[in-house]
Amino acid sequence: MILVTGATGTVGSEAVRLLSARHRPTRAFVRDPARVAHRSELADEIEIVAGDFDRPDTLDSALRGVDTVILVSPAVPAQEIAVIDSAVRQGVTHLVKITSKASADSPVDRRRGQARIEAHLATTGLAYTLLRSNAYLQNLFALAPMVKQTRGFLMSAGEGQVGMIDARDVAAAACAIATAPTAHAGHTYRLTGPGLITYTDIANELSAALGHQIEYRQIRTDEHRAAMIRAGVPEAVATSNAQAFGLIAEGDAAWLTDDVAALTGTAPRSLHTFITEHIAAFA
Ligand SMILES: NC(=O)c1ccc[n+]([C@@H]2O[C@H](COP(=O)([O-])OP(=O)(O)OC[C@H]3O[C@@H](n4cnc5c(N)ncnc54)[C@H](OP(=O)(O)O)[C@@H]3O)[C@@H](O)[C@H]2O)c1
Repeated sequence: MILVTGATGTVGSEAVRLLSARHRPTRAFVRDPARVAHRSELADEIEIVAGDFDRPDTLDSALRGVDTVILVSPAVPAQEIAVIDSAVRQGVTHLVKITSKASADSPVDRRRGQARIEAHLATTGLAYTLLRSNAYLQNLFALAPMVKQTRGFLMSAGEGQVGMIDARDVAAAACAIATAPTAHAGHTYRLTGPGLITYTDIANELSAALGHQIEYRQIRTDEHRAAMIRAGVPEAVATSNAQAFGLIAEGDAAWLTDDVAALTGTAPRSLHTFITEHIAAFA
């Protein structure tokens, strides 16, 4: 039995869809079962269980009888640590953790949080695999309202390159490991898309797909942080986002690997494919 957390989220919902297509016995851990998309299309092998990371009793009952966990969440350390501890209590044999460029001394708060979770996981004795992803292409959906309203977007990543990955490929890599975990115990994979992308490339792809010019308006990180807060982004998230974009400008995300193809047997999706498939969201 595989348990997928965050099963209504970007990575988790795709992981459930893929495991359903393979008829793998799977439990989808969700706060609200009514929010599971395409529920009627899921195979009989998919069980939806309601629970909350903040309620350990719901974790223990969801993890009973589970062999492998795909752990994806907003990565609040106390919550993921609660899942890990419950997995140990329930005799789970392997955990696949979705993570980022975690580091205990990162200026970005959420990366320090991921490092805390990883450090805890390493102390438990549980077999595990880390999927350290570059930025998701799905983050571009946050630019869609501005693209629609202003034919452009604000960004503080300069001309920094990013090996952006489609979150569906993160899910595919997680499922490949979860269905045959033994060989992947103790490994960390660094997941990227097929190419290094700048926000100028993103503006150019959007312009070509929409048939009119989309402008990349470059701003400083402090201006960007303020703009995100004005737009309603919580202050802590805006701060972390602005720091991460500043790091991109400095080349921090300019890394590519072949790990997705090695794990899944399929090349990861490109920016062009993503924009073509989702252009309605920006039109
Ligand atoms: N975005 C990026 O560029 C990027 C890059 C590298 C790594 N990552 C990593 O990817 C992970 C996030 O993945 P994602 O984008 O798929 O997440 P997401 O779309 O934000 O989904 C989060 C999921 O967690 C669930 N959740 C939130 N609070 C919960 C609670 N208290 N109890 C139970 N479930 C709860 C949400 O359920 P509801 O539907 O009920 O809210 C949702 O299903 C993080 O570890 C992040 O570090 C992201």
